[in-house]
Amino acid sequence: MPDRKTRIRRAVSRTPLAPLAALPKRLVRVAKHDAGVLRESARWLIKSREHHNYTYDLTALNREHLAWFVSVVGDAPVGQVREWMAEIEADTALRTHIEQTTATAARRGLADKTVRYARRLGWYALIRAAKPAHVVETGVDKGLGTCVIASALLRNAAEGHPGRVTSLDINPEAGYLAKAQPWASVVDLVIGDSIASIGALDRPVDLFLHDSDHSAAHELREFTAVEPKLSERALLLTDNVTVTRVLSQVAEKTGRRFLAFREEPAHHWYPGDGIGAAWR
Ligand SMILES: C[S@@+](CC[C@H](N)C(=O)[O-])C[C@H]1O[C@@H](n2cnc3c(N)ncnc32)[C@H](O)[C@@H]1O
Repeated sequence: MPDRKTRIRRAVSRTPLAPLAALPKRLVRVAKHDAGVLRESARWLIKSREHHNYTYDLTALNREHLAWFVSVVGDAPVGQVREWMAEIEADTALRTHIEQTTATAARRGLADKTVRYARRLGWYALIRAAKPAHVVETGVDKGLGTCVIASALLRNAAEGHPGRVTSLDINPEAGYLAKAQPWASVVDLVIGDSIASIGALDRPVDLFLHDSDHSAAHELREFTAVEPKLSERALLLTDNVTVTRVLSQVAEKTGRRFLAFREEPAHHWYPGDGIGAAWR
């Protein structure tokens, strides 16, 4: 027979007082979690200069999940995907270019010195897998993603699969990282509203990435505008997948498959973005 203490605990657990009895234990759990977030937030406030479009690394486990996500969406062996992800991280020419250009840019006060790609590793590996002739990226900001995309296209070209990226942004100052060679040799930077720029595209789009105005209405306008421009097996990506259902709904309407990856940033307060993918 259980002792008196155990009998009381069990009796309490069956009453409305149960949550109160467990309060100290629950308090410790949540305080530990919140203290971790506060610690990372304080560290970031002191060390980082970024005020939007945050950069960070992914946790090791999250990175592995990203490799499997790319493997499924890009129909490539996961070992090969891991090699592509390692390839961009080992690209010291690109890393040095980004570090040096960031250090001398007019907007250097708003950028961190360390180069961190996070979900852009997935963009890179998907482009290595799909070998697209024409990528369209909406939303360029400094041009970090554009450089990552251009690097994948240059590697594809060296293996006999040339391609270009059309990068669209409304801000005339966007894309300063992507203006240096060799990356600029495969980048067409177009300044203007993305809907008008998509309407003016004159070549089929093999891979489309939404990363501009993240309102659901604008995201839907972009996917609607690009639909008639897509090649038969085009891959659609969104950076907005943790916020809206736009791409999953587009996928359902157009008979595509859909999958979402959610980031888990390492040592950062930000909960992360993600990659939504729709493909046939
Ligand atoms: C999140 S940032 C892009 C990040 C970038 N892809 C990267 O990898 O770092 C969003 C960008 O979208 C641009 N933008 C916002 N509204 C836009 C619109 N209607 N058309 C084109 N670009 C737009 C902003 O100027 C900003 O540079």
